[in-house]
Amino acid sequence: MPRPTLPAGDLARTVVFAAFIAVLGLFPGLYVGGSGVPIVLQNAGPLLAGCVLGARRGTASVVLFLALTAIGLPLLSGGRGGIAPFIGPSGGFLIGWIPSALVVGLIVARLKRANLPVLLLAAAAGLVVDYVFGITYLGVYTGDLGAAAVQSLVFLPGDAAKVVAVALIGAVVHRALPGKLVGS
Ligand code: BTN
Repeated sequence: MPRPTLPAGDLARTVVFAAFIAVLGLFPGLYVGGSGVPIVLQNAGPLLAGCVLGARRGTASVVLFLALTAIGLPLLSGGRGGIAPFIGPSGGFLIGWIPSALVVGLIVARLKRANLPVLLLAAAAGLVVDYVFGITYLGVYTGDLGAAAVQSLVFLPGDAAKVVAVALIGAVVHRALPGKLVGS
């Protein structure tokens, strides 16, 4: 009976994107607002993964990145890794990167085009999904959901800029490599 295999190209793209998310972690996190959750560049990675690789491969690249982090590789901003970041205040945001990439990829696939408006919508939706996971978890972690939501407002300006940057980069990639990268 033939065994299901992951095409080598899919695997390569997944690994390359996981590495790209790790590179974004070289930018140091900025701790403002008192929640213990840093402002990072790295959360642009899962959004771009969904935009460029699509739902299946984009999500796989985020899962791979988070798995490597969880087993101890220092891939998060500031060279952090291991289980601690997942059970600390950032835990919900980190886990939220998985459904975030998934939702971005699904929206791009459902709307059947990858132009700037679609990518803006998809990336913004992916960000909202991450906020839902992150703020809910932070609220449970601190025992104050309202404070968690207010403290997270500090992320909005930077994240809005990341959504625009991700959509622009995604649109350029799709234009340069039509049909080559994205697939759900
Ligand atoms: C970590 O490195 O410990 C986790 C980072 C999670 C940061 C979240 S992602 C959404 C929001 N935007 C940011 O810039 N930071 C938070």
